[in-house]
Amino acid sequence: MIELHQALVTAWTPDPSGGPDTVTRLLGPVSLTIAERRVAVVGANGSGKSTLARLLNGLVLPSAGSVVIGGLDTAKDGPAVRRRVGFVFTDPDAQLVMPTPVEDVALSLRRTVRDAAAREELARAALARVGLADRADLPVHALSGGQRQLLALTSVLATEPDVLVCDEPTTLLDLRWRAVVDDLLASLPQQVVVVTHDLDAARRADRVLVVDDGSVVHDGAPEPTVAAYEALMRTAARR
Ligand SMILES: Nc1ncnc2c1ncn2[C@@H]1O[C@H](COP(=O)(O)OP(=O)(O)OP(=O)(O)O)[C@@H](O)[C@H]1O
Ligand SMILES: [Mg+2]
Repeated sequence: MIELHQALVTAWTPDPSGGPDTVTRLLGPVSLTIAERRVAVVGANGSGKSTLARLLNGLVLPSAGSVVIGGLDTAKDGPAVRRRVGFVFTDPDAQLVMPTPVEDVALSLRRTVRDAAAREELARAALARVGLADRADLPVHALSGGQRQLLALTSVLATEPDVLVCDEPTTLLDLRWRAVVDDLLASLPQQVVVVTHDLDAARRADRVLVVDDGSVVHDGAPEPTVAAYEALMRTAARR
């Protein structure tokens, strides 16, 4: 269960004319209880979606209010929250740290599997499940963008998170790879929160949140909520 209690995110903004820094509201206050298994977050560029996503695993901490994941407060139990909440970035290069796929997945397994040979075997099996068996020993940079995103997801899933938060995981991918990643996300037993500009993907969620100007302005079943977002964007385009 994901709970946001009046969560507010602010940032200090420098004054270009040299005056004192000012406090800007980036998001909130937002109160949400999310128990659905598939949640999509949509919104315009700069509306606050990534800020909301990052709140969920403690990458961003609320300046006021609280964020509680599975009973753990992100401000008080940061490391435990990050073990429970996997985070996938738009650009897989932001999170792939090892030279080869098998090493990257094995690194994610180091907390749960002591033996290095067993880790490697499990890493190869995980890569085989997503169709990357024959890429396991290539340099990571030799993989296509789609393959790298699949690898990033595999590495995060190897940590066995209870919740997966993905910030635009398919934005850089072509249609085929988008379908591969969407299908993988749809098959997961975990609770998955996906920030996306892909409204077809959002319509397949159980619940959709629309973020606008740092607030959740619509929240509900996919069809009416995506329709409300489209109407909001049409109004914005006319302004
Ligand atoms: N640390 C920060 N300091 C100041 N402003 C910030 C900070 N982090 C984010 N912002 C601002 O907050 C707003 C929301 O950013 P956020 O990244 O959450 O938007 P987004 O909805 O994910 O946009 P996009 O669709 O472009 O990824 C933006 O205007 C951004 O510039
Ligand atoms: Mg973003």
